[in-house]
Amino acid sequence: MTGWTEADAPDQDGRVFVVTGANSGIGYEVARMLAAKKAQVVMACRSEARGQAARARIQEAVPNASAEVMALDLADLESVRAFAAAFLERYPRLDGLINNAGVMALPRQLTVQSFEMQFGVNHLGHFALTARLWPRLLDDGGGRVVNVSSEVHRGGKIRFDDLMGERRYDRWAAYTQSKLANLLFTHQLQRMATATQRPVSAYGCHPGYAATELQGRSGSAIERLVFTNITNRLLAQSATMGALPSLRAAVDTTLTPGDYVGPAAFFGARGYPKVMEPSRAARDDDVAQRLWAASEELTKETF
Ligand SMILES: NC(=O)c1ccc[n+]([C@@H]2O[C@H](COP(=O)([O-])OP(=O)(O)OC[C@H]3O[C@@H](n4cnc5c(N)ncnc54)[C@H](OP(=O)(O)O)[C@@H]3O)[C@@H](O)[C@H]2O)c1
Repeated sequence: MTGWTEADAPDQDGRVFVVTGANSGIGYEVARMLAAKKAQVVMACRSEARGQAARARIQEAVPNASAEVMALDLADLESVRAFAAAFLERYPRLDGLINNAGVMALPRQLTVQSFEMQFGVNHLGHFALTARLWPRLLDDGGGRVVNVSSEVHRGGKIRFDDLMGERRYDRWAAYTQSKLANLLFTHQLQRMATATQRPVSAYGCHPGYAATELQGRSGSAIERLVFTNITNRLLAQSATMGALPSLRAAVDTTLTPGDYVGPAAFFGARGYPKVMEPSRAARDDDVAQRLWAASEELTKETF
């Protein structure tokens, strides 16, 4: 027996979705699946060339696809603002924003605004992007925000005294912090939407362990070797399977706002997407509020 698959996704004709990091891995697969369901897909990519190459692949797989590449570098808030301004000018509606792009376990690097790269790209860039696109998500009612997290959020801790890892930096701790931040952002966004009776809903999801470009760009040289030669081949599921939770969170009307969706088998590594319980820390109201306030202050963006 199978679980929820692409075939269960309803037709998306006339609906508009933005997918960040749509040129690779999970982002590419969810963009392709949405295009196959007749959605209009905006592929928000930091490299125009990689974005166009991915768009061409989607066009080949889905001949009638409606997909456009627009430039977005989440490591630069000016690029986030320029993307949002261009999108708002061109698109009269936004039904789903899939905050998917991510980096993992990098040596300490900084974004243009001097944020630690993993916290900056995975969380703050998406926080700022969501804030800028918020009016359009509200416009037609029923807009969704999907934040792609990871099961490693369970080991994460938000270090308010050293968010940018200036005093002590551990590349995996910075990654788990950023993935916990994705779910705390989801939690607070949904609470805010409910409290203010806004017709927008927020969902968290995780892809399990999916073989993508991520592992070949992460960790130490030895970790990369093990990931790409051993664990990706033996343990990982396909990027297509890994994209199903994002697709389900974006379009399944049976979900409850705020749900967290991902594969539950093999300790959350594989399988069809189900509604799961995130960690207690990911639903901590106080921490979620503090993170929201810190994110507003750092990005200078409000909702
Ligand atoms: N694969 C897994 O097993 C796994 C498990 C748990 C969670 N995740 C999460 O899934 C999401 C997608 O990852 P993936 O596995 O599909 O990895 P991937 O194949 O490496 O794709 C990552 C995407 O993010 C983009 N990106 C990176 N930095 C960016 C920036 N500054 N601005 C805009 N885009 C940027 C990349 O663009 P470029 O190609 O230009 O670098 C790429 O399109 C991430 O949030 C990751 O944390 C993945």
